[in-house]
Amino acid sequence: MEVKFRDSRIDRIKTDLLVLPVREKQLDAPEIRVLDRRLKGHLRLCIDSSKFTGTEGSALLHPTAGMLPASQLLLVGMGSGSENPLDSWRRAGARARKEAAAQGAQEIAVFFSPDKDADWAAAALVEGALLAGYQFTKYRSNSKAPAQTKSLTLFRPGFRAAAPLLKLVNQAQIVTAGVFLARDLVNEPPSVATARFLGDQAEEHCRGRGLSAEVWNKKKIEAMKLAGLLAVNRGSHEEPRFIKVHYKPSRRPKKRITLIGKGITFDSGGLSLKPSKSMETMKLDMAGGAAVIATMSCLPKLDLDIEVTGYVPTTDNLPGHNAQKPGDVIRYLNGKTIEVLNTDAEGRLILADALALAAGQKPDSMINLATLTGACVVALGPQVGGLFSNHQPLADALLRCAGEAGEKLWQLPLVKEYKDMIKSSVADMKNIGGAHAGAITAALILQEFVGDLPWAHLDIAGPAFAESDNPLGPKGGTGFGVRTLIKFLTTL
Ligand code: BES
Ligand code: MN
Ligand code: ZN
Repeated sequence: MEVKFRDSRIDRIKTDLLVLPVREKQLDAPEIRVLDRRLKGHLRLCIDSSKFTGTEGSALLHPTAGMLPASQLLLVGMGSGSENPLDSWRRAGARARKEAAAQGAQEIAVFFSPDKDADWAAAALVEGALLAGYQFTKYRSNSKAPAQTKSLTLFRPGFRAAAPLLKLVNQAQIVTAGVFLARDLVNEPPSVATARFLGDQAEEHCRGRGLSAEVWNKKKIEAMKLAGLLAVNRGSHEEPRFIKVHYKPSRRPKKRITLIGKGITFDSGGLSLKPSKSMETMKLDMAGGAAVIATMSCLPKLDLDIEVTGYVPTTDNLPGHNAQKPGDVIRYLNGKTIEVLNTDAEGRLILADALALAAGQKPDSMINLATLTGACVVALGPQVGGLFSNHQPLADALLRCAGEAGEKLWQLPLVKEYKDMIKSSVADMKNIGGAHAGAITAALILQEFVGDLPWAHLDIAGPAFAESDNPLGPKGGTGFGVRTLIKFLTTL
């Protein structure tokens, strides 16, 4: 989709779909009056007879019957705004794109008049429109591509596209490509998206301009003593992989950050087998890994002064003949031991390897992303990720970045007292807690492997995958986390 900027009056723009964002109860705005005059009072009649008042998420479509150069007019409600203004623009862009698709409109024009931060608002609007264009159709036989939106024009009298605006729009395009890569990787069927496939994809997408990818096979993983990954992989026919992506900026790095993503390509539960309903979506269990690979793939284009290492331990979790058994004990490379009482609590087992390995490099901070617990979905639902951290400034930065990026995170506590719940009678800890606080006990297990380095854990089990239609996002993989991570890395 091409993005253009024009200096034009609202009644002069020729397009398939003319979009006018409207603030709540501001239906007397000058642009509406201009349009209503050209439409001989029909727009006002239509507004009055509808329930449209400009609340966020509402919209009103109106044909122009040849009275304007634009074929259709779409009023998009912006609400009374202010809670998260950038995200309102992002949603308006998405709404415009969805409506354009529904109407078969190839060209969208948006009259654009923010109160403030015009460049940021424009970039957010473009980002929303780009994100809403995602499709995953490679497994449909009847996919004669539906008419795609060809261009998006932002216009306003006196509007000029200066360098800062173009830079932000360019960043929105880079981020969107990253989000789409993460979604594609998650949506791929689990027998296609194996550990080997993820390694190949990391190599394909993460090479060049300061970015390098290294993919360890089983032999190397054994040599590196990644005992958790090997234990989980034992029930599988597929070899595991350990993916390392490294970004070294051309200038001296200001910070060194490590990103770690859970890469379980399919989670059957292992011998502690899941019921069939719970397994239906378990190709999503590499969404954290996908987000890390996708984020890394964006870094050279963003030209940041941050050194970033991405680690993705990856395997499927299956109950094959050699599978690990409840009661088995894993000894990690930092000497710690975990008694495996439930093979379905496997994410923490493979993340522990990566955290211990990463901690040895002493980065400035470590962030891991994982579809870790059903308990977090119970607590926060499908739209909000859980954030745990041993370092409040890092947690605060991530919460702020998520808000700006339009992803919802909520901090949950690392309750030290609950460490009692993961005490084992034979090892340093067991891999499951009690009946309560499952998201917290999982985070406490991870914390045992990070030492005292600043660390944050994002439990994205809820928002990584959308099971039902969401007006903004896609069904399936959402690419959750990519936008927050990129915002975090670009504002460090
Ligand atoms: N991958 C799941 C968590 C999950 C659940 C992700 C629902 C997305 C949606 C994880 O490996 C898992 O199975 N966790 C168990 C842990 C339990 C056995 C302690 C869970 O949450 O039930
Ligand atoms: Mn599991
Ligand atoms: Zn899992």
